[in-house]
Amino acid sequence: MREEVGRVSGPHGEVALWRRTDDDGTVVTELVVDGVFAMDDVDTSTERALATEALARAEGAELAVLVGGLGLGWTAAAVLRSPGVAEVVVVELEDALLGWAAQGLLPGLPSTADPRLDLVAGDVAAAFTPGRYDVVLLDVDNGPDFLVHGSNAGLYGTRGLARALAALRPGGVLAIWSADPSPALLDRLAALPGAVDAEQLVLPVEREGRVFEYAVLLARRAS
Ligand SMILES: C[S@@+](CC[C@H](N)C(=O)[O-])C[C@H]1O[C@@H](n2cnc3c(N)ncnc32)[C@H](O)[C@@H]1O
Repeated sequence: MREEVGRVSGPHGEVALWRRTDDDGTVVTELVVDGVFAMDDVDTSTERALATEALARAEGAELAVLVGGLGLGWTAAAVLRSPGVAEVVVVELEDALLGWAAQGLLPGLPSTADPRLDLVAGDVAAAFTPGRYDVVLLDVDNGPDFLVHGSNAGLYGTRGLARALAALRPGGVLAIWSADPSPALLDRLAALPGAVDAEQLVLPVEREGRVFEYAVLLARRAS
């Protein structure tokens, strides 16, 4: 069974939220953008790992975290569950998702009541205030090599990455989710002036009888 939970046409195209019940009874939520499957929540381990791996590398208390974008809310919720987090700013391009979050329709983030959470509409590239965050998490697209939104290409280029790194306080951590391991992105991160400890975590996920290799790429702003 598959039912539409919501559908909104916005400036970036049409966004729809679907809920389906799989043969084993599992209820799965799907995000569909312009008629194309964007993500579901069959396995959200890597969306959550984006948050937990970055926060495990962060230093200090009272951490300020920037998340772009919201999606189904799994990364944002994992940040809120992590110790030491004082502020979470989530920037999301699609107004529809912010509306569904407010209605409690996103499975990862069923409530937006946490006072540490600030949900903001817009492009995360406009939210890179220099020196503002301890952790910056980017999961806005499939990764650098297969974009849903061509306008996100700049985020994964050297200039975009440098702006994301500069949004960190010294010692802060930048982490990027990718649908594939990306040695080229890792090289660009490692070559950024002021970046240290660049690394790539390859995270296997099994679904529909196949193993997919997703990745989280990380770098730290030098102290
Ligand atoms: C794959 S989803 C994120 C999934 C999320 N990590 C989760 O746990 O559910 C990507 C999200 O980024 C949003 N997005 C795409 N480009 C963006 C941008 N430049 N700035 C902010 N959000 C963006 C999309 O609308 C979508 O909601």
